[in-house]
Amino acid sequence: MITVGITYDRVKWEEKALLKAVKKRNLQLRLVDSKEIYLDTLEEPEEVRSTFGDIVVQRCISHFRGLHLAAVLESKGLTVINPFKVSEVCGNKLYTTLALIKAGVPVPKTLIAFTEKGALKALDALGYPAVLKPVSGSWGRLIALVKSREAAQAIIEAREEIRNALLQIYYFQEYVERPPRDIRTLVVGDEVVAAAYRYSRVGEWRTNVARGGVSKACPLTDELKEIAFRAAEAVGGGVLAVDCMESPEGLLVHEVNGRAEFRGLSSATKIDIADKIIDYVVGVAKK
Ligand SMILES: Nc1ncnc2c1ncn2[C@@H]1O[C@H](COP(=O)(O)OP(=O)(O)OP(=O)(O)O)[C@@H](O)[C@H]1O
Ligand SMILES: [Mg+2]
Repeated sequence: MITVGITYDRVKWEEKALLKAVKKRNLQLRLVDSKEIYLDTLEEPEEVRSTFGDIVVQRCISHFRGLHLAAVLESKGLTVINPFKVSEVCGNKLYTTLALIKAGVPVPKTLIAFTEKGALKALDALGYPAVLKPVSGSWGRLIALVKSREAAQAIIEAREEIRNALLQIYYFQEYVERPPRDIRTLVVGDEVVAAAYRYSRVGEWRTNVARGGVSKACPLTDELKEIAFRAAEAVGGGVLAVDCMESPEGLLVHEVNGRAEFRGLSSATKIDIADKIIDYVVGVAKK
């Protein structure tokens, strides 16, 4: 019998749905709260397996916690979904953008700088409005729509005051002239299982559900399927939420999430996404 592990730091709607999907099947479950444990790097692989299972669905919200956990588990021969390498790429917006470009997936024009001086030069090259994002972050946090050079100076100065190495990496994107929505698709293995529009709430330009965005069903066209699948493959494949925007020139991928949130997508499409994920996990475990 396969033993499926789920590692987490907070049980949200998605984790509950995954738990239910595991319990429905003839599977053993190991539920591990990453906040309660420690890992011994010299531990025997069998010991690690008895705690975590044969295959682990890594669901820690803290990106770095999940990444380090995956590193240890993989070193002991366990299969982690998503794998360390995939999480590493998806946990950094620049790494993701570079992987997408390499695979020929269309992305918004993106510039990188490392200092205030470089950042202002980048903005002069890109023009206003522009979007500034932390390379690692989620739920739309600290993402700024920069409308003028004066606003840019203020934002950059504030960032320079925060002693955080990653915030000194300036990731700028052209502002994509899109409808007040983006599209979230979910890729599970080689299947694009669902898509939903996310409309931003009134008074908010970001479409994140965490910022009051609302999910509505979106037709899963061949174009959407193709771009989502290619984006997922570009970062190494697995269970991935691919987010794209409808630019005047066509779809652009702005993000691939390695720890997908799919509550909005599930309610908008009535597709049992957790079920699809656990089917995939079982398939990988059997290989
Ligand atoms: N270049 C852009 N042009 C226009 N709107 C953008 C652009 N980039 C991002 N947005 C809007 O801002 C939202 C947040 O951006 P993004 O998805 O890149 O970061 P995030 O949501 O913080 O990261 P995560 O999805 O990992 O939580 C997007 O969903 C989209 O609505
Ligand atoms: Mg996003």
